[in-house]
Amino acid sequence: MEQRRALIAGNWKMNGVSADGLSLAEGLAACARRASDLPSDAAAEIPPDIAMALPCDVLVCPPFTLIDRVAKAVAGTRIAVGGQDCHAKVSGAHTGDISAEMLKDIGCGYVIVGHSERRADHGETDAVVKAKAEAGLRAGLVAIICVGETEAERDAGQTEAVVARQVSGSFAAGGTPETVVIAYEPVWAIGTGRTASPEEAQAVHARIRAELVGLIGADAAGKMRILYGGSVKPSNAAELLRQPDIDGALVGGASLKVEDFWGIVRATE
Ligand code: 13P
Repeated sequence: MEQRRALIAGNWKMNGVSADGLSLAEGLAACARRASDLPSDAAAEIPPDIAMALPCDVLVCPPFTLIDRVAKAVAGTRIAVGGQDCHAKVSGAHTGDISAEMLKDIGCGYVIVGHSERRADHGETDAVVKAKAEAGLRAGLVAIICVGETEAERDAGQTEAVVARQVSGSFAAGGTPETVVIAYEPVWAIGTGRTASPEEAQAVHARIRAELVGLIGADAAGKMRILYGGSVKPSNAAELLRQPDIDGALVGGASLKVEDFWGIVRATE
């Protein structure tokens, strides 16, 4: 992974009201300050070159209602904040939706698009996901584009075909290694405690990278980060992250506990 810095991203999903969300954010901020040898005082002066003091890039994606306060709680650490979804348009008559520009405005650096729960619950197609990813880029966010097969598709031997189709159909035009991250999350591994074996995951990640070569060329594809997601925890993270094409993790359940999430961050060391 010499040319790709790992990214550990927490997707809090629809979890957290003020009290628990903020205590989670403050706990993570404390870990980041300790890891970076920073003063525990949030208001203290931060040296500008502290980015590499964490073993990897670290991101939390709280529910929309908490983003603003979580961003303030982690300010001054190198923890980035992102949204879990965005609308494709900048603004307008779209009741209940949030634009990528709005996320940027409250301190987000990233947006997750095309999570399988959104594809399933909201009928999001590859074309919709692509438009959302492009909205993220337009707003200056890094788009984390999620793909992954269902159990039935895996059983039918279609995993690589499904995932390759999702990657090419959802990829943001103009996406670069700096502006796009791919997340491979097998649907059957999400929230189930079942994880793809490191070898199974690696095979799909390699197939995704091959698809990216066709989309953006070998050099850019070699630099683009591909995260694994689906029941990642401190006890299985290191083994997954050792695979050559696994460049980080998108973490659901284990991102809701400071020790578990930071344990995964430390697994990149
Ligand atoms: P779990 O880690 O809870 O399986 O969720 C994975 C996921 O969907 C992250 O986006």
